[in-house]
Amino acid sequence: MRKPFIAGNWKMYKTINEAIALTNGVKRELLDFDKADIVLCPPFTALSPVYELLMETEIKLGAQNLYWEKEGAFTGEVSCVMLKDAGCEFVILGHSERRKYFAETDESINKKIKSSLAIGLNPICCVGETLQEREAEKTIEVIKTQLTGCFKDLKIEDLLGTVVAYEPVWAIGTGKNATPAQAQEVHKFIRGWLTENFSSGFADNIRILYGGSVKPANIKELMKEADVDGALVGGASLEIASFTQIVKNAV
Ligand code: 13P
Repeated sequence: MRKPFIAGNWKMYKTINEAIALTNGVKRELLDFDKADIVLCPPFTALSPVYELLMETEIKLGAQNLYWEKEGAFTGEVSCVMLKDAGCEFVILGHSERRKYFAETDESINKKIKSSLAIGLNPICCVGETLQEREAEKTIEVIKTQLTGCFKDLKIEDLLGTVVAYEPVWAIGTGKNATPAQAQEVHKFIRGWLTENFSSGFADNIRILYGGSVKPANIKELMKEADVDGALVGGASLEIASFTQIVKNAV
């Protein structure tokens, strides 16, 4: 059985004080909650203060990006070593907003994934099609290309702890989530692809999250699908009540 996995992607929201308030609220609501793996992904500036609050809990810390070199003259970038040092166990990589606004490609995402794995930071690898691609019936083809590029030259033993997130671009921040059947179709494809390219044992254990307008009201139905193991939550992770209700409704 795969343990449900719920991650909150705070994107570019929350000052340090706001992050502390949100983290304390989540902690209060989910104290002793062990039915799901919970990960908070604040912006870089709030990683350390949030980690201080999470240290004695089962809630994990994640970042939203990294640069693949360990250190060097790369102004404005943050490395896997720095994320580990700040207390991160996870890092979101390949998010569609990074692909769209910061020109990330499957090739650069692959480098980032390798860099995170090399230091034992678990990547949450995002894939997803645009509305145009879905309407042109290219969804599966797009997901396959992204998976192939992102996991290039990686072996099972490197990838243990990796999480995959299916985030259809048209569902992100739009209030229009994929239907459970639409999510299941892609999740099933992803698990099949992982079986084919790695092994069935590996594919059976990996958590595949759905992301895109996840709310307390739709998570239950999504989680009923065989291959939906959790959620990567954006907007609804910014409020204590909605995020903690999603976690509770997911199990
Ligand atoms: P929303 O939940 O705001 O649609 O965002 C989803 C997302 O991009 C999570 O990474």
